[in-house]
Amino acid sequence: RVCRDGQSPDKLRKSTDDLMAGGVTGGAAGTWSDRFEQGLHPVIERFNASIGFDITLLQEDLDGSVAHARMLAACGVISDDEARQLSEGLETIRTEAAAGEFQPGLADEDVHFAVERRLIALLGPVGKKLHTGRSRNDQVGTDLRLWLRRRLDDLDACVLRFQRALLSQALAQRTTLIPGYTHLQRAQPVCLAHHLLAYVEMLERDRQRFRDVRGRVNISPLGAAALAGTPVPIDRRLTADALGFDGIYANSLDAVSDRDFAVEFASAASLVMVHLSRLAEEVIFWASEECGFVRLTDRCATGSSLMPQKKNPDVPELVRGKCGRVFGHLQGLLTMIKGLPLAYNKDFQEDKEALFDAVRTTTDCLEAMAILMEEGVEFRPDRLEQAVGSDFSNATDVADYLVARDVPFREAYQLVGSVVKRCLQDGVLLLDLSLEQWKSFHPVFEADLFEALAPRQVVAARISEGGTGFSRVDEQLALWEQRLA
Ligand code: ARG
Repeated sequence: RVCRDGQSPDKLRKSTDDLMAGGVTGGAAGTWSDRFEQGLHPVIERFNASIGFDITLLQEDLDGSVAHARMLAACGVISDDEARQLSEGLETIRTEAAAGEFQPGLADEDVHFAVERRLIALLGPVGKKLHTGRSRNDQVGTDLRLWLRRRLDDLDACVLRFQRALLSQALAQRTTLIPGYTHLQRAQPVCLAHHLLAYVEMLERDRQRFRDVRGRVNISPLGAAALAGTPVPIDRRLTADALGFDGIYANSLDAVSDRDFAVEFASAASLVMVHLSRLAEEVIFWASEECGFVRLTDRCATGSSLMPQKKNPDVPELVRGKCGRVFGHLQGLLTMIKGLPLAYNKDFQEDKEALFDAVRTTTDCLEAMAILMEEGVEFRPDRLEQAVGSDFSNATDVADYLVARDVPFREAYQLVGSVVKRCLQDGVLLLDLSLEQWKSFHPVFEADLFEALAPRQVVAARISEGGTGFSRVDEQLALWEQRLA
């Protein structure tokens, strides 16, 4: 469990203790209507409160309330002067918060009550008019959407930065080769830039998904009130426009109980984490002594407390490890919403920590991986060169050579299999065989075979659309340079 946008559980405990000590009001008996005679049991007060983490929504809560106050005046529900006082009071709270002087207590329950109470303390009776025609149910939905919209824009910038880091590595490695794998067995050599651009493509889909989610996040529930709308003559389009929403929920029940966008976000974020983890795993593999395709720079690697020779890939390992949190939040959110009857239920309070942590984790991982690509890894051309020339990953090209000379593919495939078998028995590679030996397998082999089997030519030849041939990769690099400019 985390709070305040991702603090540790210990901190949460400490901060709720602080909150207990620092409550600004006289306990929950003061919160509710006169039907309540007793205050909350202190353990229940702590259990019920979300202020420890929903203080994260403070800016958005203030923004939403300013828009709501102005709309109330525009609709003649309150006077212009009252709206001005409310707006100024809300801005005062913003200033107090920036100075560290706004410190709600546990008794405030959540950020919405905390702001309203402070406003009433600042303004007196006028402050009591702010909550007209509104409920915390539509309010919290509004805050959450405004908050997530902002974070989606930040995330888009993070993904873009990461794509650019990959692209500049790719541009620097346009002629470098790397073994291509299937089943983590050497398959065919590829251009390293091609390999890196594969991640740029995945990340582009991630950006599309975030944009798509943003479209559904950016709908205003404000004015749905508790669940059924309100008899107060409000104008929901005014607040929606003022807050930059693209539209309003058509159904008040749906408005206060929709958390689809949170699930969609967690799902899109999970796929980002999947992509990051795949590259993370490759970097870990590349940096291993067995592979040695990259060297980790001191900027992004760590040592061992015991073994002085060690240099560990902590950054990609952490990224790989943090996937569980984001996937877990997706599962948690789905489970939290499942079976909830309409409309608002307190279960929804559980959406916040999941979203806050999913956003923070995904953002942090994107930043760390971008830095890793920018200055954390150095490819080792010597090791890569040696790797692509020391295996049978040009075997398919012998078959392709035969196919180009009218040998049916399946027949060629069988024949190359027997050549490889012979090489393995003799402890040699395909390029070590003499032309006479090749001709003993098939008469069509000529001296041009040797050029065709050189790793650089093996890569260059794959010029089908989307292939790793240098000319195709250059086209893609140019395209991505334009797109990410
Ligand atoms: N803290 C609450 C939440 O996070 C705000 C809404 C409370 N609404 C209510 N009817 N109790 O969901």
